[in-house]
Amino acid sequence: MTATSEKDQVRIFDTTLRDGEQSPGASMTLEEKLQIAEILDDMGVDIIEAGFPIASNGDFEAVSEIAKRSKNSVIAGLARAIHADIDRCGEAMKHAGKGRIHTFVSTSPIHLKFQMNKTEEQVLEIITDTVTRSRNLIDDVEWSAMDATRTPIEYLCRCVEAAIKCGATTINLPDTVGYATPDEYKSMFEQIRERVPNADQAIFSVHCHNDLGLAVANSLAGVAGGARQIECTINGLGERAGNAALEEIVMAIRTRSDVLPYMTQIDPKFMVRASKMVAGASGFAVQYNKAIVGKNAFAHESGIHQDGMLKNAETYEIMRPEDVGVKATSLVMGKHSGRHAFRDKLKELGFELGDNALQDAFRRFKDLADRKKHVYDEDIEALVEDEISILGESTKVIALTVIAGTGGPQKAILTMDVNGQHVTKEATGDGPVDATFNAIKAIVPHEAKLSLYQVHAVTEGTDAQAEVSVRLEAGGRIATGKGADTDTLVASARAYVSAMNKLALRQQTGNPGALAAV
Ligand code: KIV
Ligand code: ZN
Repeated sequence: MTATSEKDQVRIFDTTLRDGEQSPGASMTLEEKLQIAEILDDMGVDIIEAGFPIASNGDFEAVSEIAKRSKNSVIAGLARAIHADIDRCGEAMKHAGKGRIHTFVSTSPIHLKFQMNKTEEQVLEIITDTVTRSRNLIDDVEWSAMDATRTPIEYLCRCVEAAIKCGATTINLPDTVGYATPDEYKSMFEQIRERVPNADQAIFSVHCHNDLGLAVANSLAGVAGGARQIECTINGLGERAGNAALEEIVMAIRTRSDVLPYMTQIDPKFMVRASKMVAGASGFAVQYNKAIVGKNAFAHESGIHQDGMLKNAETYEIMRPEDVGVKATSLVMGKHSGRHAFRDKLKELGFELGDNALQDAFRRFKDLADRKKHVYDEDIEALVEDEISILGESTKVIALTVIAGTGGPQKAILTMDVNGQHVTKEATGDGPVDATFNAIKAIVPHEAKLSLYQVHAVTEGTDAQAEVSVRLEAGGRIATGKGADTDTLVASARAYVSAMNKLALRQQTGNPGALAAV
């Protein structure tokens, strides 16, 4: 099936919620996963891999809830080549409109010898057994040959043939360790499709990791070799150096349609929002120069470039920013704006808040407009996202005073609402951030360890809002919280408390004080 003058459709399989969430520290809450799945569905993603149902009750719940709510996308769950995994995945798909079991096993000599301690023949039996079992539960079965790119082609052909014979409808050949070059990857698909007798009965899929920075190039090369499904993630989130980035693949196919005769059904105008949502939920900020969705992707600084842009945008832009959802920043909101205008602005930015949340967000917006000269769209987005993450939290920051400077030690006086009661404590520390975090610990004693502290300015200027990400770890669990404010220390306290609330939620008690027991 090589591309002809008609454009071949390539399916987009998003694995942000599975392979993306597998990045150390990127774990997301159920609410965050539901929001991300919804935007992926609206964007036109063909298949959403929602998680790994056997991994935990939380993963199971996320996959089955996403499967229940999906409007158009097929929902996939991952399963190792183990009966219990496959059965649990099948259970998660019970209420899916369109569900898929994605099962995988390693095929490369190094994995067989050191990880599985199995012979090639034993793995072939496992493939037959597990694909058959999956197919008995559901019609849509994807089988993946883990570490396919380091597997001898003869053996890979036998594995693929067996999987298709047992009913696999999609065959994924991943570059699990990001080792392949584009030519090699393309050739692997060409050879498999040529040599495997029943290859025409399945759709082939690419799945590339970015260890050598080749994930997107390899994915496109695999498509040139005949694959018609691309597995990718928003922002390229994923294990180690990440997976191929969905936004880069889709925009490459659209922008270079003169040499890439394919099409996807993705609506790119959702890309920037999806990118921000995933960055917020995972705590992995997007680098400024990231293709398509980075802050600078459509910014022009040099005089020569600005001159060209003013004459004709095509001089220095190969894509239109509005196509991927980048809006020209507007300055229309300020301290004289009313509730109605604020609600309309939120709608324009894609937020719909309930009455109470709207009230709180409006109060914070007014407060911000009093302190900050210009309120940009990005400020409002940061503020509302912060508000959404605070909703339903049992522990909140109420007031913070910090005494800092060269005299030291720095001191923080903090008031928090803990389950409806206001508690005030003060603490000192090695710097104002340390003092603030110590004050939180004085109010809610706990053993969680701080593993990430990151500060970003939302817009330019010394009065810009700071957006802070904090990651906490306790008892093998990880949670990331975010906070935004013009005061970096208030944003830091909010981010810390948000992470603490999430961690408590993950320990199923809903009480941050319970972290003390870890
Ligand atoms: O990278 C990989 O091989 C995977 C498989 C589970 C598909 O993520
Ligand atoms: Zn992977």
